[in-house]
Amino acid sequence: MTTSATLSIRRFDARDTDAVIALWQQAFPEYRDTTKPHRNPRLSIENKLTTQPELFFVATLGERIVGTVMGGYDGHRGWLYSLAVDESVRRHGIGTRLVAHVENTLTGMGCPKLNLQVLSAKTDIQAFYEALGYRADAVISMGKRLGAFVDAAPVS
Ligand SMILES: CC(C)(COP(=O)(O)OP(=O)(O)OC[C@H]1O[C@@H](n2cnc3c(N)ncnc32)[C@H](O)[C@@H]1OP(=O)(O)O)[C@@H](O)C(=O)NCCC(=O)NCCS
Repeated sequence: MTTSATLSIRRFDARDTDAVIALWQQAFPEYRDTTKPHRNPRLSIENKLTTQPELFFVATLGERIVGTVMGGYDGHRGWLYSLAVDESVRRHGIGTRLVAHVENTLTGMGCPKLNLQVLSAKTDIQAFYEALGYRADAVISMGKRLGAFVDAAPVS
């Protein structure tokens, strides 16, 4: 780790917005892609703050935000989104801690299964989740954009 500060995981606060967007722009290339206006990190944060904001977490080292994860639970399945760790502190277990934090929180809510999606080209990320016990389900993921983004590309 590049610092001796202790890792903490806490709920996202609106004051974290700019730091989280900077982290996501580093971790998710699509947030830097101007041809994908539907990938709008500020809108994602605004939306999450109106829907289960208690399931949006940041990892901090001292004052510095080094990781994020979002969870969701609809009463049937849990979902995990927006897992990101600052590239300067990867492979130190922070991603594992963030996933475990969501798993424990959703387990406490009675959630029986946690789902997530990984782009099929991201084989390294699949290896990460496999290391944490996740396995590919025998399903294909289908989606449809709604509202203002109905004409945006179906994937990513
Ligand atoms: C995925 C991500 C969050 C992992 O965070 P991390 O803090 O580096 O992960 P951990 O240190 O907890 O890794 C735990 C284990 O997962 C596996 N793993 C992690 N990153 C891996 C990689 N790039 N390739 C292969 N295996 C990997 C290893 O087994 C690792 O254990 P080890 O370091 O002892 O070998 C981070 O790589 C990231 O932010 N990636 C970019 C954003 C992204 O694609 N997020 C996922 C969206 S679905």
